Amino acid sequence: MPQGPITSTINNMADVWEAYRDELDGVERQVRTNLDSSVALVNTVAAHILNSGGKRIRPLLLLLSARLCGYTGRDHHQLGSLVEFIHTATLLHDDVVDDADIRRGQRTARKIWGNQISILVGDYLYSKAICQIVDFRSQGINEVLAEACKKMAEGEVLQLYYNGNPAMPELEYLKVVEHKTAGLIAASCRMGAILADATEAQQDALFRFGQYLGMAFQVADDTLDYTANGERLGKTLGQDLRQGKATLPLLHLLRHCSEQDRQMIIDRMETRTLTEEDLGRLIRLMEEFGSIAHAMDRARTYVASAQQELSQFEDSTAKRALSVAADYMVTRDR
Ligand code: IPE
Ligand code: IPE
Ligand code: MG
Ligand code: MG
Repeated sequence: MPQGPITSTINNMADVWEAYRDELDGVERQVRTNLDSSVALVNTVAAHILNSGGKRIRPLLLLLSARLCGYTGRDHHQLGSLVEFIHTATLLHDDVVDDADIRRGQRTARKIWGNQISILVGDYLYSKAICQIVDFRSQGINEVLAEACKKMAEGEVLQLYYNGNPAMPELEYLKVVEHKTAGLIAASCRMGAILADATEAQQDALFRFGQYLGMAFQVADDTLDYTANGERLGKTLGQDLRQGKATLPLLHLLRHCSEQDRQMIIDRMETRTLTEEDLGRLIRLMEEFGSIAHAMDRARTYVASAQQELSQFEDSTAKRALSVAADYMVTRDR
């Protein structure tokens, strides 16, 4: 398994996935093993979303962090699968909150089985992860994961608090992003380091690495909501504004566009309507006023800060892979 000093073969994300395929297969095996509810419907709903093509970014970052810190064991497969369970739980809940019909190119669980089932299977996945995590008998891992889960709920609530509010301060937007997304990514990186018995300084560096990465990841996600190819992204474009969410590119546009366009945007946020035509107009405005570039510049700044955190680690394949994964946060199209 790659951890040594040979770094030249990893140039892009496809190389990372290739180099760590066995490791990620190990995570997949654990995902399947852990889906063992005696209630068949729980397994059916959970399998529907778990097998629908998620990128597995959080388990990947966890196992790379562990390898970076010299971990040679195999428990990271199980820990990675539990992080993916928690991520999946948040998606099941998030799709209810966001009224989402499509995820990963498929109908959402809530669309097939209804909101109640989607929420409850999300609860199941959270609980199942916590049941399994205690087997690690690690106070550090328990604390880090519990804190991340708490922050995610706070982030989603704070986001709802600002729903439909075009005057949401940018700092509050960043707080939402930090809580709902960066927290779990940062926790994944720190847990990899804890598993490897890394020093406090290394754990802290990897936590900050994950936090910057998570910020970049969500800012890019919020930009992709306007600019992506919907089929490739596997989600409905324009859904953020349709749900009254003011994200970084939109907040930038609201500060720079004409009063007339501003009123149009506010109307669409309030009425929760957004036609294809409206979306096209918004994207043109965002391009005209540099809102897309502004958001992606911000995301790239976070990526650079993340990569800076890796400087204290010796060169290795895992370090190279983490740096490439950081770049992927802002080059990804899905
Ligand atoms: C989606 O996360 C939720 C966000 C934090 C934006 P991912 O983009 O990692 O989702 P999957 O698991 O790859 O579908
Ligand atoms: C991320 O926010 C949600 C979570 C962290 C659960 P989004 O609402 O933007 O995620 P997508 O776009 O639905 O995947
Ligand atoms: Mg959503
Ligand atoms: Mg989104």
